[in-house]
Amino acid sequence: MTKPRIAQNATPAGTRLLGFGSTQGNRIVTNDDLAKLVDTNDEWIRQRVGIIHRRLGDESQTVVSMAVEAGAKAVADAGLTPGDIDQVIVATCTMPGGIPNAAAQVSDQIGIKAQSAFDVNAACAGFVYALSVASDAVRAGSARNVLVIGSERFQEWLDWEDRGNCIIFADGAGAAVVGPAEEPEIGPGVLGSAGDLVDTIYLREGKYIYQEGQSVFRWATTQIAPVAARAVEAAGLKLSDVDVLVPHQANLRIVEAIARKLQSQGARDDLVVARDIVYSGNTSSASIPLAIDHMRGAGEISSGDVMLLVGFGAGLSYSAQVAVCP
Ligand SMILES: CC(C)(COP(=O)(O)OP(=O)(O)OC[C@H]1O[C@@H](n2cnc3c(N)ncnc32)[C@H](O)[C@@H]1OP(=O)(O)O)[C@@H](O)C(=O)NCCC(=O)NCCS
Repeated sequence: MTKPRIAQNATPAGTRLLGFGSTQGNRIVTNDDLAKLVDTNDEWIRQRVGIIHRRLGDESQTVVSMAVEAGAKAVADAGLTPGDIDQVIVATCTMPGGIPNAAAQVSDQIGIKAQSAFDVNAACAGFVYALSVASDAVRAGSARNVLVIGSERFQEWLDWEDRGNCIIFADGAGAAVVGPAEEPEIGPGVLGSAGDLVDTIYLREGKYIYQEGQSVFRWATTQIAPVAARAVEAAGLKLSDVDVLVPHQANLRIVEAIARKLQSQGARDDLVVARDIVYSGNTSSASIPLAIDHMRGAGEISSGDVMLLVGFGAGLSYSAQVAVCP
């Protein structure tokens, strides 16, 4: 008896980014505002973290509602309709309760009859994890167009008496659409974790974000640039081919350190570096697409630019991927 032959999906030649969208908390919170809550000051925050102000959500803004807003904008920016999307992935680590997930609600509220909708939690590395999964799904033919969203509402996860942490985090969402392409425009995701360092970022009392700031700072400034360089190599490019560096916006000093390290290894002096943290704060899995959407809107980057996206955070987890700006 001959074995039955298993069919597999038809596959496109490659994948590409088709569009972006974003939204932020409606409330602007300055460093002086925070100095009324905790013993801190504008100068310390600017010098040590680089934030001038961050944005927090008002009562109406949730992980789901911000994901819906950013996601709908990304679908429109891609020139698609909700009916064209067949997979929704939400990267988040601040979804209250965990059950139900965010993606099913987001999909429904945008009007997407998605065949699959699921959340990814790799904390601040989450967006690139989700992007990598999305690109692989399109590449394998199991989805045609995937909506990838990073959405976080941090304010309930912060101890507003802990000056080391409450000054850093913020609320917002950023989204991208990945679809098929004749010429590949997204490189392989380089993903990884360092679970032995799990105790450096965790929920204190099961409630509040806590991090050993200096340990995480050291790890991010020494271990992450090599991950970024591996993603460039995996895409078959050289560091000098990269036009735009978009690291997770954790701390401006970490962003600058990663850029300097890559420039010392061949990245160009005119490399455009995302510094969105200055006016957005650290929005975890939303920070990378949020930064890209802002830079596109401001005309700082253009269609066709080679971008290097780099995530890192709790887990510890890390991720990097090359993608061409739509
Ligand atoms: C958290 C972080 C901003 C703290 O900055 P830092 O320069 O390492 O500061 P430290 O924690 O060493 O604290 C230095 C001093 O400033 C004080 N300090 C902390 N927060 C302060 C604040 N908001 N305002 C004023 N002083 C503050 C500390 O109490 C300490 O005082 P001391 O020397 O008298 O003990 C920084 O370590 C960081 O960005 N770490 C990495 C974060 C990250 O990437 N996370 C992963 C992804 S989310």
